[in-house]
Amino acid sequence: MTQPDPTDLSQEGLDALVAAAEQAFAAAGTLAELKAARLAHVDVKSPLAGANRAIGSLPGPERAAAGARIGAAKAAAASALAARTEVLEAERDARILVEEAVDVTVPVGRRPLGARHPLELISERVADVFVAMGWEVAEGPEVEAEWLNFDALNIGPDHPARQMQDTFFVEPPDSHLVLRTHTSPVQARTMLHREPPIYVVCPGKTFRTDDLDATHTPVFHQVEALAVDKGITMAHLKGTLDAFVRALFGPDMRTRLRPSYFPFTEPSAEIDCSCFACNGRAALGECRVCGGSGWIELGGSGMVNRKVLTACGIDPDVYTGFAFGLGIERTLMLRHGVGTMYDMIDGDVRFSSQFGLEL
Ligand code: PHE
Repeated sequence: MTQPDPTDLSQEGLDALVAAAEQAFAAAGTLAELKAARLAHVDVKSPLAGANRAIGSLPGPERAAAGARIGAAKAAAASALAARTEVLEAERDARILVEEAVDVTVPVGRRPLGARHPLELISERVADVFVAMGWEVAEGPEVEAEWLNFDALNIGPDHPARQMQDTFFVEPPDSHLVLRTHTSPVQARTMLHREPPIYVVCPGKTFRTDDLDATHTPVFHQVEALAVDKGITMAHLKGTLDAFVRALFGPDMRTRLRPSYFPFTEPSAEIDCSCFACNGRAALGECRVCGGSGWIELGGSGMVNRKVLTACGIDPDVYTGFAFGLGIERTLMLRHGVGTMYDMIDGDVRFSSQFGLEL
């Protein structure tokens, strides 16, 4: 094809320019080729643009007619370009859809997410409730001095409770170390190390030589709470327990104290809370959680024994205190209907993941 003359402003000359442009657009197989064709046939350096510029050199009377012809030619080329662009873009989009398609049926290496153990979650929630009331979290070792686990808590060498709490002793015997049988030694540690006012909560692992079965485990968890201040009474214990069970289990929960005995508290009481399941409304024998009594045993409590305060260097004539300890496994079993201890210790993520992040 002969190179069109940009100064040929005749209809034939312009038709040839448009035809050349249309041919080039049609021949472009990709958007990149179309771009090259556009630069060659309609851009500023193209013959059509040159023809447009040439209008100025025409004698005045011819300009209007030439302008109209060139305008029509440019419009024709532009619409050919637009049509081809649309076709090529559609092709490109269709190709991308195919090339980038994801085969959702291809098997993938799946790594299941872990989940925090519900015992941890409950311990943390319990601690959170107390931290929100301005208490501090205290910790103590799991391998504990026999003296702190027993003697400081008014459990002397011949005290029956020493035998009752089936203890793991650490070799050699003269190390006088045990795996703590409860979290109460943290009470003693805290009182020995700090001056009142003391408001601490202590979640942790505890150990007793129970055989593992559906309702017992040699490793279990407790949360201990200790308040020592001037003028602390049993009313503070009751009020704290009420606030605690409401925060943890819901606004309708109530507690009741039942007389009991612990060497390190005097007076002592078992803590019951109203039944999560029936809230006391079920008839006797009808509720799977409380058996219809309306109450569930949560743990032990009492006013810190004067002897314990004294052993820990606190003047019992100036300060009084209350303490309580809760079993976390028990709480989990009752609160969530976990039927067997094995589920809690198996470490199967399918168990843990049922609890999510919320209690
Ligand atoms: N330490 C007691 C137990 O393990 C519970 C308890 C804690 C009782 C604090 C009274 C005060 O059974």
